[in-house]
Amino acid sequence: MNARDLRCLAFEGDAATGSLRVLDQRLLPAIERWFECRSAGAVALAIRDMAVRGAPAIGIAAAYGVAIAVQEANRRGYPSIAVREAVEDTVNKLGATRPTAVNLFWALERCRTLAAQGADEASQFLELARAMHEDDAQGNRRIGETFASRIEDGMSLLTHCNAGALATGGYGTALAPIYVAHESGRRLHVYVDETRPRLQGARLTAWELSKVGVPFTLICDGMAASLMAKGKIQLAITGADRIAASGDVANKIGTYSVAVNAAHHQVPFHVAAPASTFDLSCPDGASIAIEERNPSEVTDWAGERTCPSGARVYNPSFDVTPARLVRSIVTERGEISPVHREQIAKVLGAPMDLAQPR
Ligand code: MRU
Repeated sequence: MNARDLRCLAFEGDAATGSLRVLDQRLLPAIERWFECRSAGAVALAIRDMAVRGAPAIGIAAAYGVAIAVQEANRRGYPSIAVREAVEDTVNKLGATRPTAVNLFWALERCRTLAAQGADEASQFLELARAMHEDDAQGNRRIGETFASRIEDGMSLLTHCNAGALATGGYGTALAPIYVAHESGRRLHVYVDETRPRLQGARLTAWELSKVGVPFTLICDGMAASLMAKGKIQLAITGADRIAASGDVANKIGTYSVAVNAAHHQVPFHVAAPASTFDLSCPDGASIAIEERNPSEVTDWAGERTCPSGARVYNPSFDVTPARLVRSIVTERGEISPVHREQIAKVLGAPMDLAQPR
């Protein structure tokens, strides 16, 4: 299968009656089933429960969710003012699902702006969601093309979590250069961190790479340092959930360990992310909200408890890697290197356009 054909989101039908389908990532890799969202509430549930996950994908799903809410308001014959209220309610509901991935708030803000400009038809919101979806997929291909030349023939790379087609509008961010290099015939090997506690590496990245035919080896998170010490990894690359103005990167818990280990072993550590993942209103990583999830993700395994009852649990879903450990951030607008405030502004252009109102 070609990586371009992997998809996790599809809006089916017309603006008046269509629905959003998400490939249910809670069930992968065992079961490939699409979860149908016929209401904004269903989209919120899919995001909170991680049927759809990955920063760009949840932003796009939320935009479709707003279009579905407007569909319902149109069906009920609401006047414009009530449609705008429905958009506001939906934006608030969807914005309360997951706090760290800024793409969610970026997408919702665009929906809110469209409503403020007077849009009150589902077709207008669907057009916006579709444009975001397509832009993200195209941007990912640009990220892939920008960085692929750095993946030399015979190279072994490490990635953490899933920043592939399953996390985006298509093709992925961190996996995009890997796909481009693979498509151009380069031999490469990917070490995939399993990514405790939810196993996005084992369940999702390994699933994607198997589908596309990219050779990989699955490892437990704690194994990466010893592979680096043996010289088996030449480059590490991950995605991001939110990047502060300083270049500090919030991404899946365990990413910081990858970056520290990479620095210790002189393995370059890179991040790939679209411009919509930058939050220039966050001065640095310390101001990024980090989601904490249910302790059962840590205490239980396949429904069985794996620790004594009463064990205290810490379960942050993300951590922050300081900019000084990041060799470059690859975006659809170019590569940011060295990673610091001025270079970010230079590559992204007009930084104020990207500031997220809070
Ligand atoms: O909790 P998740 O699975 O939504 O976390 C996903 C990640 O951390 C990804 O690396 C990030 O969103 C980038 S996806 C292109």
